[in-house]
This record gives sequence, C-alpha cells and structure tokens, in this order.
Amino acid sequence: SADVEADLVNVLFTEAQIQDKLRELAKEIENDYAGKDILIVGILRGAVMVMADLARALNRHVEMDWMAVSSYGSGTKSSGVVRILKDLDTDITNRHVVVVDEIIDTGLTLSWLISNLASRNPASLEICTLLRKPEASQMDVPVKYVGWEIPNEFVVGYGLDYQERYRNLRDIGTLAPHVYS
Ligand code: PRP
Ligand code: MG
Repeated sequence: SADVEADLVNVLFTEAQIQDKLRELAKEIENDYAGKDILIVGILRGAVMVMADLARALNRHVEMDWMAVSSYGSGTKSSGVVRILKDLDTDITNRHVVVVDEIIDTGLTLSWLISNLASRNPASLEICTLLRKPEASQMDVPVKYVGWEIPNEFVVGYGLDYQERYRNLRDIGTLAPHVYS
C-alpha cells in the first residue's frame, strides 16, 4: 500500500509521545553532563530519527558522530560477532560519549559496540535507547537512558524497519498481518 501509516495496526507510541520522551531524556542528559562536552554517537541506520530529535531537544552544545555495524552474514547475529562498516570520524580518547540507538533487542549489537568503544579510553561511555526489549536485560549491557521497555513484539516506524520499509513513519507500532503475506 502507498499509505504507509495505514499498514500500522497498533500504534504503540505516537509522534507526540516520542517527542515528549526525548525531551525527558534530553533533560536528564543536560543535568548529568553539565559543564562537560559530549559526543553523541548514532548507530546507523535505525538511530537516525532519534539522533535528529534528541540532538534538537538538547538545549546545549553537542557533537554528533555515526557508526554503522553489521553482524557477520545472516543468521549469525546470535554469535554476537559484529563488524564495523563505518567507524567514528572522531577520536574518543578522554571524551564523554553517549551511544544512541532506537532499540535494544537481544543486546548483542550494543554489548559488542560498548566493549569496542571502551577500549578507546573515553572519559565516560553511556547508552541511550528509545526502546528496550526484555531479552536485552539478559545481556550485561548497562543502559543509562531508556525511553520505554516494550514487549517482545516486532515494531516498526521512527527508524525501525521491516525489509527496509517503514523507517519513515512518525509513530511506532506493529504491522498489519497482510504486510507479511
Ligand atoms: C537493529 C536496531 C539496533 C539493533 C538491535 O539494527 O536498530 O541497532 O538491531 O538489535 P540487538 O540488540 O539484537 O543487537 P540493525 O542491525 O537491524 O540495522 P539498522 O539499524 O540499519 O536497521
Ligand atoms: Mg540499528
């Protein structure tokens, strides 16, 4: 269907709710990093929307950089082996870094990424995610800033895709069954 919003059967979070939540998270970050320079690192591609809106919700200076990572092959995501497709342009030694993603599912991507980035000796390293699924809490990924915990359902929108579509939805929700058939 050409009407992408019509494929959502259940809206979990509206555009307005998402923006309110990001303003809350931005306030926390402003308080926690008062007087410090921060670099926020978005994980391509899903984190593009969160980065854009979180950065604009922050009423302070912030640097932005990006990483793209991928699991080796398909079906090996559970191995936790990740390769870097695009590394940071920034040297994060002695920098205060906040990694930003839109969802933590199994936690494998971020647990690998955090140990990789930690080895570069940043002054501090925290994670901010809009959504976190319960399975992620089984991994030892300490996430400082979480928007919402969500059930283990397949969600799309606001950066989250199904076969590369629906990332551009303003809301987050679940897809109608007809989309999958
Ligand atoms: C998705 C999502 C997270 C990651 C979470 O990205 O954007 O980055 O998976 O999964 P995990 O916690 O199980 O590791 P994906 O690798 O699908 O790429 P994308 O961001 O380009 O959609
Ligand atoms: Mg991603």
